[in-house]
Amino acid sequence: MKPVDPFKTLKKFPDGFVWGVATSSFQIEGAAAKDGKGPSIWDTFCRVPGAIADASNGDVACDHYRLWESDLDLIADLGVDAYRFSVSWPRVRPSGSGAWNEQGLDFYEKLVDGLLKRGIKPYLTLNHWDLPDALQQHGGWAHRDTVHRFVEYARGMTKRLGDRITSITTHNEPWVMASLGHESGIFAPGIKDRATAMQVTHHLLLSHGLALQALRADGVRSKLGIVLNLSPMHPASAAPEDIEKTKLEDGRLLRWYMDPLFNGTYPDDVLAYLGEDAPLISAGDMKAISIPMDFLGINYYSRAVISAAGHWDVKKSGLALTDMGWEIYPEGLTELLVRMDRDYNVPPLYVTENGGAFKDRFEDGRVHDAQRTDYIARHIAAVAEAMNQGVQMAGYMVWSLLDNFEWASGYEKRFGIVHVDYETQARTLKDSALWYRDFLRQQKAARAHTSASALSGPVTESATVLTGV
Ligand code: FCB
Repeated sequence: MKPVDPFKTLKKFPDGFVWGVATSSFQIEGAAAKDGKGPSIWDTFCRVPGAIADASNGDVACDHYRLWESDLDLIADLGVDAYRFSVSWPRVRPSGSGAWNEQGLDFYEKLVDGLLKRGIKPYLTLNHWDLPDALQQHGGWAHRDTVHRFVEYARGMTKRLGDRITSITTHNEPWVMASLGHESGIFAPGIKDRATAMQVTHHLLLSHGLALQALRADGVRSKLGIVLNLSPMHPASAAPEDIEKTKLEDGRLLRWYMDPLFNGTYPDDVLAYLGEDAPLISAGDMKAISIPMDFLGINYYSRAVISAAGHWDVKKSGLALTDMGWEIYPEGLTELLVRMDRDYNVPPLYVTENGGAFKDRFEDGRVHDAQRTDYIARHIAAVAEAMNQGVQMAGYMVWSLLDNFEWASGYEKRFGIVHVDYETQARTLKDSALWYRDFLRQQKAARAHTSASALSGPVTESATVLTGV
């Protein structure tokens, strides 16, 4: 299959638009108990029989804790502007409170300095789900104390890394931590209780707001924000019950997070639906949550089709699916970004994750992952389309740099643009990585070419024509 080339019409992105690749600590680092690291809730969850599809864990993962230097060379070779990674909280503060772990802090200091040395901007996420297990023993995110432990952690990290970090994300995808971790229980810590899940959402948001307040008071100059997983919701039919349910699901996924962050309120319809399961809110919480941010990150993979009758069978739509069974629907990204911009007073937006799992075949030292290239190219084109419609976009990051531990799916699902052989830890650039590298080279050449004439205007109408693959 030849990748479709949306760049026949897509030209140059604006100067300053940030191109990146993303990973997270638990999914790549390994070294689960090395150099003083404490267990995270994911280390514990992986031991629960049946929790992970292939019964695997994060003990070794991509062995990035050992291979970080050559991984940074790989990132530099791709020519990206930025690397989005996360810090493992239990690696730097093993019990989540009390003593800090120097060896863990050293690791991230070396990583950040290694990025800067290679001219790559560090985009740091504080919480990509691997909460110290010791805090879970005290109630985890359901307990209000964890909010304050998180603020201490945020301050400790920024104190150590100073102003070397370009961008700091407090939380990655609070919906996933709350709903998958505490309502359906398919992710760590594996709790199945809706009231707990909703209290967790509130504490995550509160800790985000209080951390921003503390870091600003400390004089931290990094850009500060949060990353949400969002999808447009489409009703399965025009029937009133499908439309009603779609509105509620949109409320639970999108407005439940966007409204408090930008307006300082939870949506009334969702509060009414939750009834007694709504979270306890203390005086001042909503004001703290709605502190202005410097950026908002959006992770986009697919849309959701909502049917009042229950589960919607994705096969019905006839769209191509990824190996996760998710519809490939780039138009949804444009729709989402335009809506964010229309409905909320948003700061510059990033697509902080976007990519696809596909059944790759490693043949003669190559991975011809045309579907992944096609997926990424079409979604980049969807970002450009949103910009043409007036949305202020700051950057785009591919999920993921490496094949890695895909949570409850274990190592069975591969999202990387770089192939990882888990036996040898050898890394091989897939065709999608080669394509991304070429695309970024073209973007840079176009920047250099146009910097003198300072072209502006719609993304698809600048004078420099770039061809795609
Ligand atoms: C997102 C997660 C990321 C990865 C992708 C596929 O929800 O943030 O860690 O698992 O999905």
